[in-house]
Amino acid sequence: MGEGMREKDAAMAPVVKWAGGKRQLLETILERIPEYGTYYEPFVGGGAVLFGLQPEKAVINDSNGELINLYRVIKEQPGELLACLKEHQEKNSRDYFYEIRALDRDLEQFASLSPARRAARMVYLNKTCYNGLFRVNRAGEFNTPWGRYKNPSIVNEEAIRAISRYLNEARVLILCGDYRESFKGIRKDAFVYLDPPYMPLSASSSFTGYTAAGFGRQEQIELKRQCDLLNRRGIRFLLSNSCSPFIEDLYKEYRIERVSARRAVNARGDGRGAVQELLIRNYDCPASQRL
Ligand SMILES: C[S@@+](CC[C@H](N)C(=O)[O-])C[C@H]1O[C@@H](n2cnc3c(N)ncnc32)[C@H](O)[C@@H]1O
Repeated sequence: MGEGMREKDAAMAPVVKWAGGKRQLLETILERIPEYGTYYEPFVGGGAVLFGLQPEKAVINDSNGELINLYRVIKEQPGELLACLKEHQEKNSRDYFYEIRALDRDLEQFASLSPARRAARMVYLNKTCYNGLFRVNRAGEFNTPWGRYKNPSIVNEEAIRAISRYLNEARVLILCGDYRESFKGIRKDAFVYLDPPYMPLSASSSFTGYTAAGFGRQEQIELKRQCDLLNRRGIRFLLSNSCSPFIEDLYKEYRIERVSARRAVNARGDGRGAVQELLIRNYDCPASQRL
């Protein structure tokens, strides 16, 4: 797949738990990815698909600035990040969690933290907060409560080192912004995997709080319009979304498959178990894969 110059590194794995993380569906997704020139992942999140695929040439993006800062720090300052994480591991307690969580309440103070400190804060909160849910309120403040884990594993040195090597050796452009911006200059041989915030199946399951902006019905309709634009240009895309009648209807002219996924991170924490998701694409999979 891809240009295939680099050997896959099995140590590469997400360093944050992310709502909608794709670990459970990874093989199903990977086997549907065709040959491509540049891989695009405009909603990269925890990066399970990126790290599973390890493309030689990629453009990754997310609108969550803390997450993208983390990837940039992993690339450029893995040693500093690991040192900060070890400090968090040693000091971890309920009070310490709330102290670190409160750092974004004072914007001036928050802006004065080094990129490595901010990245370590993000990983630390992610590993110790309730259910691993990165959630911010309208003011952009992290507001998930403490998770009461006895021995959370905060420092995954092997994965951080492996991702750092990958981001330095491959040609990966790391962007932070709206997904549409990342399509600028996209070429016909690109392949785009889209994993947007999902369309909620019910009002109580609505989780779109990765960033202060949210992602509702209008954004889903706009995303479909963007997929149509890619399609018209002959650019292949694969899109994940929830198994909602609205989404099935919206994409009815494309190939839609229902696949089963096990979900571990969910807004209410009680949504564990198998759920169906949709995989929507605008291309035929290679004949050998008979999908
Ligand atoms: C379902 S998650 C992606 C999950 C990810 N693929 C994984 O495996 O962990 C959706 C992501 O989209 C990001 N996002 C939300 N609105 C966005 C926008 N308008 N442009 C780009 N990214 C956005 C969120 O910050 C979140 O990380």
